[in-house]
Amino acid sequence: MAYAHITGWGMAVPEKILTNDDLSQMVETNDEWIRSRTGIQERRIAADEQSSATLATDAAIKALDVANLKPTDLDLVIVSSSSPEHIFPSTASLVQDRIGASKAGAFDLSAACTGFIYAVDMGANAIRSGSLQNVLVIGTETLSRFVDWTDRNTCILFGDGAGAFVLQADERPGGVLASVLHSDGSGGDLLTLPAGGSKQPADAATVRDGLHFIQMDGKGVFRFATRVMARATKEAIEKVGLTTDDLDLVVPHQANLRIIDAAARGLKMPIEKFMINLERYGNTSTASIPIATVEAFERGRLKAGDKVVFVGFGAGLTWGALVAEWSGPRPVEKRVNHNLYVVWARIRSLILRGMRIVEGLLWGKYGRKK
Ligand code: UT7
Repeated sequence: MAYAHITGWGMAVPEKILTNDDLSQMVETNDEWIRSRTGIQERRIAADEQSSATLATDAAIKALDVANLKPTDLDLVIVSSSSPEHIFPSTASLVQDRIGASKAGAFDLSAACTGFIYAVDMGANAIRSGSLQNVLVIGTETLSRFVDWTDRNTCILFGDGAGAFVLQADERPGGVLASVLHSDGSGGDLLTLPAGGSKQPADAATVRDGLHFIQMDGKGVFRFATRVMARATKEAIEKVGLTTDDLDLVVPHQANLRIIDAAARGLKMPIEKFMINLERYGNTSTASIPIATVEAFERGRLKAGDKVVFVGFGAGLTWGALVAEWSGPRPVEKRVNHNLYVVWARIRSLILRGMRIVEGLLWGKYGRKK
């Protein structure tokens, strides 16, 4: 039987910081209100040249570096995002090309802020079934591009960033142990991006009415979140016979400190067992759990053998929890030079594009005769 171990992790956030004071110059709000209602102090905003794919690529390369895995050894790239580069092609395919994962399949997954949990679950199941060996899972967002910067209800919450895990097959027990995934589409209208899809394609009217911006019933989402966070955590750990006492760390979706507090109370766990970094990044949606995990590791809060729960909620409505035994870094014999792979990936991509142009020319010249 194969186990799916988390062997690599990486994060990438834009350099530009937007503070609560900055926001108070843009909408009628203030630092005190935002801090006390959400816990957020600042968030990162993508520069013009950054996008969900560039942040995802940066996080992915760091995760591959930690795992010391060549991109050519990847079997699958899954990108979870609510702000993908396009409806199609998938952001995952763009990342697959940029990192040079020449043998990997790639697809995007849409489950909003819960997406990273869904994606890790998909990747881990593919490994446990024996069909894949190495899976790259990424959560990436540039939700700042979909925020109405005149709407104080939403613009104070969201930030940009990406986080990635490498999952690898191993016969040693451990890694991803169990998960629970849930959805309740009857609450889909609580948090939505109404236009730009097939129901309301972009036109002058949708743009005029601001339907390409995030719309949210904050209180409704808040009530739902406080209900499901503790419940999903309990469900996931009960599946593998663990109790909250067995948990070393909970990495919750970083949406609002009050929601995380409520989850801690619901689980009767001390808040110290929860990883919290939303004060510096805001809500980075599906990227928040991997970003918080990377920082938990860097702060020495995750050691090999630790039992950790990732738990989240979001639009859909969706929610879920995943319990894992942290594997820690693998012993490294010979380091993979990822800088070389990045250059190689760029050259490979150019050659493939060039070949397609030549193919088109030849087809034009000889293909028509058939
Ligand atoms: O990943 C999932 C994403 N979504 C979420 O996690 C959202 C979950 N919900 C929340 O985090 C909270 O509901 C919010 C932070 C969005 C709002 O906090 P709240 O405690 O539910 O505030 P509220 O909407 O009940 O507003 C309270 C008051 C209102 O004024 P009145 O009607 O009491 O006079 C608002 O108009 O605060 C006002 N208000 C603000 N004041 C200053 C709302 N937004 C702001 C603001 N600054 N940014």
